[in-house]
Amino acid sequence: MKHITSDFDISENDLKEILNLSSKIKKNNEAYQDIMKNKTLIMLFELASLRTRVSFEAGFNQLGGHAIFYSIEGGKFTRDESMEDGIVNLSRYCNFIMARVLKQDVIERMSNVATVPVINGMTEVYHPCQNLADLLTIQEHKGKLNDIKISYVGDGGCNTANSTMIGGINSGMKVTVVCPENQKYNPNPTILKKLNNKVEVIHDPYKGVSDADVIYTDVAVSAGMEAEKEERIKAFKPYQVNSELLKKAKENTIVMHCLPAHIGYEITREVMDSPQSVVFDQAENRMHAQKGLLVWLLNK
Ligand code: CP
Repeated sequence: MKHITSDFDISENDLKEILNLSSKIKKNNEAYQDIMKNKTLIMLFELASLRTRVSFEAGFNQLGGHAIFYSIEGGKFTRDESMEDGIVNLSRYCNFIMARVLKQDVIERMSNVATVPVINGMTEVYHPCQNLADLLTIQEHKGKLNDIKISYVGDGGCNTANSTMIGGINSGMKVTVVCPENQKYNPNPTILKKLNNKVEVIHDPYKGVSDADVIYTDVAVSAGMEAEKEERIKAFKPYQVNSELLKKAKENTIVMHCLPAHIGYEITREVMDSPQSVVFDQAENRMHAQKGLLVWLLNK
């Protein structure tokens, strides 16, 4: 049995297997439509979600299974039941647990006691399911991952940046993080070291996106960061993905965003709706990549 608590739980070979399976299922869902028959996925959410919730539920249903949503708002099960007892109990009812929680240590505590696979549906540190969808999207649009240059523009220390760096390096991509000089927006040094310092960090936005095959941005003010809103808006203004920035990259550079987008902040409407934007292919691929992950986990 395997847990996906972070992108570090997915090896280079695992990535290839999961992406291959995701593509196969995307092309021919019929062949997999009963694979999760009589199986149950429990989805625990401490934070709101559109894509993660709906793509997991729709995808699991399309594989013949049944998905159950359960809110753990406030980081707790009802009546103050301990996280560990709740997870041990839920493991008796289901085949998979997917959880979106604020803190990474909670997902790790869940995986320590669960007797079914636990999947990280996003914490403040990692967003591995998003990264699988991102890689599938890049592979589809660019025909490969190896040697593709991705420039992640914005907060280099956020969960999506972490997952982009890990998944990108593990799949042979060239990863550049384009972020403000302020240390708090730079990539986590521990993660950089774990990736053998293969990630390039650049503070000049124009230089950072030159030669990029993929420009990736994310919301500058995430849930829980409202107190820093003004400071963040100011810090990330020069890093807005707009048509001027896009011109500094290649003619066929694709633009990605993990969504939800905040138009006029990290990205303009013009770029979001441009032919170079693949953001809704990327959002659709959340479902396909997660199907691939679930089927892959079933066979572990
Ligand atoms: N990208 C993403 O995780 O979207 P949701 O917050 O809507 O799930």
